[in-house]
Order: sequence, then structure tokens, then C-alpha cells
Amino acid sequence: MAKIPHRIYLSEEQMPKQWYNLRADMKELPEPVLNPQTFKPATVEDLYPVFCEKLAQQELDDKTHYIDIPEEVQEFYKMYRPSPLIRAYNLEKYLDTPAKIYFKFEGNNTSGSHKLNSAIAQAYYAKEQGLTSLTTETGAGQWGTALSEACAYYNIPLTVFMVKCSYEQKPFRRAVIETFDAMIHPSPSTNTAAGRAILEANPNTTGSLGCAISEAVEKAVTTEGCKYVLGSVLNQVLLHQSIIGEECKIAMEMFDEYPDVIVGCAGGGSNLGGLIAPFMRDKLTGKANPRMVAVEPASCPSLTRGRYAYDFCDTGKITPLAKMYTLGCEYVPSANHAGGLRYHGMSPILSKLYHDGYMEAISVEQTKVFEAAVLFAKQETILPAPESAHAILGAIQEAQKCKETGEAKTILFGLTGTGYFDMTAYDSYRSGKMSDYIPTDEDLQKGFHGLPKIPGIQE
Ligand SMILES: Cc1ncc(COP(=O)(O)O)c(C=O)c1O
Repeated sequence: MAKIPHRIYLSEEQMPKQWYNLRADMKELPEPVLNPQTFKPATVEDLYPVFCEKLAQQELDDKTHYIDIPEEVQEFYKMYRPSPLIRAYNLEKYLDTPAKIYFKFEGNNTSGSHKLNSAIAQAYYAKEQGLTSLTTETGAGQWGTALSEACAYYNIPLTVFMVKCSYEQKPFRRAVIETFDAMIHPSPSTNTAAGRAILEANPNTTGSLGCAISEAVEKAVTTEGCKYVLGSVLNQVLLHQSIIGEECKIAMEMFDEYPDVIVGCAGGGSNLGGLIAPFMRDKLTGKANPRMVAVEPASCPSLTRGRYAYDFCDTGKITPLAKMYTLGCEYVPSANHAGGLRYHGMSPILSKLYHDGYMEAISVEQTKVFEAAVLFAKQETILPAPESAHAILGAIQEAQKCKETGEAKTILFGLTGTGYFDMTAYDSYRSGKMSDYIPTDEDLQKGFHGLPKIPGIQE
């Protein structure tokens, strides 16, 4: 067979025309989302006040295996997809490993990440329903940028609540989001009751995704014609992100390749859920048995040190309750530089798969992540986002194990985005000012105390 090229691109015709719904193949489904007032499983009608109708239906659909990607969304995807699957030849050489390392690069659009895959789908359904505005939160800023691009395309006014520490670390993110005409506030803000309450309790807070979600949801439910959209955690978002894994699988099959190990960073779980989707299908149906590894920051270790429990998806406790690995919705992670991974919970789908032993998880320290990021940038000439660099480090560790054992494994990882707006973080690493914060068990205990009590389910 011919040498595998550095970059494998599918043609437009080869792009998947359907998203894959992993839940339809799971032996045991994630626990149902609960209505926070009644503690009964949420119905689709319960979700309508907050979410767009089609998306609420996708959220609760655990039966349909494949869902057609609307043609308009397919056309939009063609502006930046298919994304390349890249063989990291230089990294392999540098590490002197027998492993073959592949990565799927999702940073090739203005948002600089995979987030646009779901943003355009959500904006499309909002337009179809005739909504007049949308609201959301953003951590690192990639999701806010992606949604502002999608909303500008469909002419939908958008309000973004951006986690305060990221807002301050990345002034140009704000500028990009405003360029696409969205309104942006640092969160917690004084614009919502949830924000004001959080500020009153903790005036110096650096903010968190959970807190920004509370503000955005409040804005949606108190504004006529406005709905809330979220860039991670939810089942619908993992569904849209399955395009990543499906493209990957087709590209690998063209060269008779199949991953032994798949590695991805995990914030709320959307890129990882999307990347592993078709490979997890093979695992669940007994066709193959690849390992799947989630890499999370040691400062916000929801899978590796969290509890598998029902929790609110936001700090203000207004969202439905999801059963997931969580650090408690009141947990505010330290202001580390991977804003997109500072979320207290984890996708209920990934949580269930991890709980049932289908996935592994590791946590890594910030300085080691940046060491891997710089090494990767020099070898592969892509400057990674700090979030993505967690996956790079995970993949490097797997490749190093191969060097020790002499095994020529095939490693696939998700390179979710670029880090051009994260140069403050790179500077802090280079000047030796970056520190590693690892919460103590007592710190985590405080978050667990805030877990909701649900009669008969979680006392
Ligand atoms: C570049 C990048 N990678 C990864 C993530 C983590 O999100 P998720 O776990 O939903 O993929 C984010 C979130 O903002 C991000 O911006």
C-alpha cells in the first residue's frame, strides 16, 4: 500500500450525511434527566421553555440511530469541513516510538475549534422555529465565537455570558464575538438575578461555566422568543459532534487503519463524545475493542475524582438535574488556562460509559500540558489550544508506553482547536509563572456537600 499521507482529506461527497446517536446502541442508557421541581423524568414539554423544540426532541431521543443532517447544515459544513486527519510523523520521530499517531484537526475555522459543528446546527433549528434571539455561555470563548458566527449567518441576535477570568485573559475573543454582532458580558454580571446573587455571595469570584449557564438560562426564560443553547454536555451536542468521529472512521478505513487507543480532552465531553462515537458503536456491538481515554485537568477532575450523582448543570440551580460525574455545581475551579475544561460536570452519556467501564480517564497538570503543547507546536507546526493540549499529552504518554513495550499501536487523538488567543497562557508558561493547582479532598468535599437531595433517589 502507498505511504499514508501526512494529511488525509475526504472529498465533499464522502462527508457523512447523518449524525450518529450513540445512545441507540448503549446496553444501558444514561439515567433520565429530572425536572428540578417534580423530580420526575423531564418530558420534552418540560424542556421547551428553555430549548428550541427540535433540539429538545433530539435531547430525549435515545432510540433513533441516525439523524439526517439538514441539507443547509451540510452546505455550511462544506465551508470548513471535511477536517483533515493528520498523521503526526514528526511527533512520532521525535518520541522515537513505534506507535502510529493520528490526530483529527478541528481548528480550521474562525472559532478555532470543533464548536462550530454544533453551533450551526443549533442556529439552524432556532431559525426554523422562528426564534427571535438566542443566549449562551462561553468558557474559553470558542463556543461563544462559534455561535456568534452561526447566529450572524442566520441573522439571529445573540447574547453571550463569558466566564470572567477568560474574558479578562482573552480580550480579543470578545472583539471577535462582537465582530459577529453578538452582545457579550463577563459572568457573573449584574444583568441577571443569578449573576447578582453569585456576586453578592462571592464578590471576587473569577466565574465558572456553571455560573455563566445560570445567567444565560435566566435570560432565555425571561425573554420572549429567546432560547438557550449550550455548546457541550448535552446529548444533542454530542450527536452533532459525531461528524468528527464518522469522518475519522471513513478516512482511516481508506488506509486500512483502525485505532487501538483514542484520546480526547474532556470538558463537558462534546468533542470526545463525537470523536469516539462510531468506535464506541463498534465496541458496544462487539466488532472491535479500542481503548478510549478522557484527559481532564487536575484542577477540575470531574471523572477521576467526582461523584456519579444527580446534579444541576449550572451554579444557579435552575437547569434540569442530570446524572453525571460531578464535582458539585457550586465547585468553582481555579482560574487555570484551559477555560473550556473548567466545568463541574460531564456529559451524562460519557459519564454512564465511564461508569460502566467502557472508557478510562486520567487527569493531568497544567504545566505538563503546556510542555506537551510547545513540543507539539514545534514538531507539527500547529499551535494548540490549551484544552486540546490535554489530549496531546495523553497521546504522548500512550506513545511513550509503546516505546517501552515495543508495541506499534495506532493512537488517534482529537486536536480540537488552536491557541492563538491563549498567548497569555503560553507566556505565563514560558516565563515560569504558571502553577499547578490540585484541589485537596477537603476542597472537593465542599462541592459534594452542595449536591441536591432527591427523595428516594439521592438522599
Ligand atoms: C478547543 C476546545 N477543546 C475542548 C473543549 C472542551 O469542550 P468539550 O469537552 O465539550 O469538547 C473546549 C471548550 O470550550 C474548547 O474550546
